[in-house]
Amino acid sequence: MTSGQRTVRAAVELPPSVLLEQGHGGLPRLRVAGRGGSAEIYLQGAHVTAWRPTGGEPVIWLSRASNYSPGAPIRGGIPICFPWFGPNALDPSAPLHGFARLQDWEIVEVNEVGDDVSLTFRLNDSEQTRASAWPFRFEATYRVVVGTTLQLSLEITNRSGGAVAFEEALHTYFSVGDVRDTAVRGLAGATYQDRVLGVTQVQQGVEPLHVENETDRLYLDSTGTVTIEDTDGDRVIRVRKEGSDATVVWNPWIDKSKAMGDFGDDEWLEMICIEPCNAGSSEVLLDSGARHRMTTTIDVLPAGSLEI
Ligand code: BG6
Repeated sequence: MTSGQRTVRAAVELPPSVLLEQGHGGLPRLRVAGRGGSAEIYLQGAHVTAWRPTGGEPVIWLSRASNYSPGAPIRGGIPICFPWFGPNALDPSAPLHGFARLQDWEIVEVNEVGDDVSLTFRLNDSEQTRASAWPFRFEATYRVVVGTTLQLSLEITNRSGGAVAFEEALHTYFSVGDVRDTAVRGLAGATYQDRVLGVTQVQQGVEPLHVENETDRLYLDSTGTVTIEDTDGDRVIRVRKEGSDATVVWNPWIDKSKAMGDFGDDEWLEMICIEPCNAGSSEVLLDSGARHRMTTTIDVLPAGSLEI
């Protein structure tokens, strides 16, 4: 261990397939090497930064230009956006996509279950979160199951005395061979907000979506499975979900990539974000004591699979 590095220890027992180590920037990271698949997860944000099924290629994309420092978002992987999505409506100075991706999450439980490794993380409200634009009491539990599929389940419990509203997203960056040779299926006919053009009610046609310029769309009433036909990667990535009424599709394209300090100029070619979420008109309204769970299950199918 070089000087300046911290020793990191887990408060729970870890099975042999999981190692707690220092990741980039000295941030604590779990390295998971299960029989079904491998992954990396930073405790800051409970942020999955890598996943690949055993014998397969990496599925999750991570920028080579990302920051890794306390309180700065990691670029790529799967940021958890909570309790708001995008800019905060009440406080424009509040961090984009909420505070959950900037906080250290606690490891609650790590188990091997057959060929899978199941990891559970928790984030509670704190003085810091209560001082934010969303001052409520909550418990967030995030379960990540690493195997031949990757399953992510975010459960929010309202611990406040009254009802609360929140937005959430599993802002997944997928790795593709070339985004220009990629087709996204499963959104046909859905209404979306075009956040690049600032237009609120656009209808997706029946054709698969091809990203051909800067794309930032919030598809409303989008509860079904979305697939990414990664032609150059010779595979189809399938994103199933439950408890999510909306889907965001994002690719920054050329100019925005150049403008972002933590994103390589040409990296837009290699990625596409498909984000199961509840945002905008599909925000979640939760009574005191109630729980809401959003789950996504990601797997890889052979090229040519059109079944969703
Ligand atoms: C997407 C949003 O989900 O995330 C975009 O729809 C945003 O508007 C993008 O630019 C990246 O957000 P950030 O805060 O990680 O740069």
